[in-house]
Amino acid sequence: MAKTAIVTGAARGIGLATTRLFLADGWHVAMVDNDAEELTRVAADLDGVAALPCDVGNPEAVAALAAEVDAGFRRVDALVNNAGLADFGPIEETDFDRWRAVMRTNLDGVFLMSQAFVPALKETRGAIVNIASISALRASTLRVAYGTSKAGVAHLTQQQAVELGEYGIRANCVCPGPVRTKLAMAVHSEEIIAAYHDAIPLNRYGTETEIAEAIVWLCSEKASFVTGQRLSVDGGFEATGIGLPALRS
Ligand SMILES: NC(=O)c1ccc[n+]([C@@H]2O[C@H](COP(=O)([O-])OP(=O)(O)OC[C@H]3O[C@@H](n4cnc5c(N)ncnc54)[C@H](O)[C@@H]3O)[C@@H](O)[C@H]2O)c1
Repeated sequence: MAKTAIVTGAARGIGLATTRLFLADGWHVAMVDNDAEELTRVAADLDGVAALPCDVGNPEAVAALAAEVDAGFRRVDALVNNAGLADFGPIEETDFDRWRAVMRTNLDGVFLMSQAFVPALKETRGAIVNIASISALRASTLRVAYGTSKAGVAHLTQQQAVELGEYGIRANCVCPGPVRTKLAMAVHSEEIIAAYHDAIPLNRYGTETEIAEAIVWLCSEKASFVTGQRLSVDGGFEATGIGLPALRS
């Protein structure tokens, strides 16, 4: 029987690339996104998917989604919590509404979706992959809400790994470096783009597929003894200290 993955934020970007790789490996995918129009449009061109519009930060909507998946799918083998929101701003301009909007999707969403699908994942001894960011690992300017939400995701992953390992459920976290998606391009100025190039040993942005490869591997049997890990897929960003731009010139 084909395995099933639930991928949130699947209508575009890293979530869509992840969906495509799962399909190429013979999985079925439940594509979840709160942009119902785009989700339906994209899913219409893919075989082996179900399009399930849902706001992952809304507890009632997530409960309804879990009931729908329970009734419609025979199994859930992997949950990829990828839906995310970026809002960069100085600390003094980040009011509580902006803070909550980021936390609601990026951290509450991961918590709610994981809670809802633990029973199904117990049955398959399945996998959770949460998408954090290099902003979870390194502080930077303008990321008081985004970076803190992603650091929460990284720690939540470890909590899940420790507690759910008993049921054979693995939980891991992928920390992508910059990728030219709609989310990133909305907050990356020309200066930020140039600074990333300078700070990344591979000297470029990553692609959606390069991030998706790590996600799908962590969900697969090939990663059967890997849990509680944070995997940076970042062109070497996390490894660097000072001096890289100077070495290049
Ligand atoms: N692109 C990057 O440079 C980068 C770097 C590090 C981490 N990430 C993370 O990767 C993940 C995917 O980002 P992306 O770059 O592909 O962004 P994207 O904007 O292209 O895609 C995000 C998707 O999530 C959906 N979404 C947003 N809020 C939602 C909600 N409440 N409920 C359901 N769906 C929702 C959007 O509609 C969209 O389809 C995010 O968690 C992001 O923080 C991205």
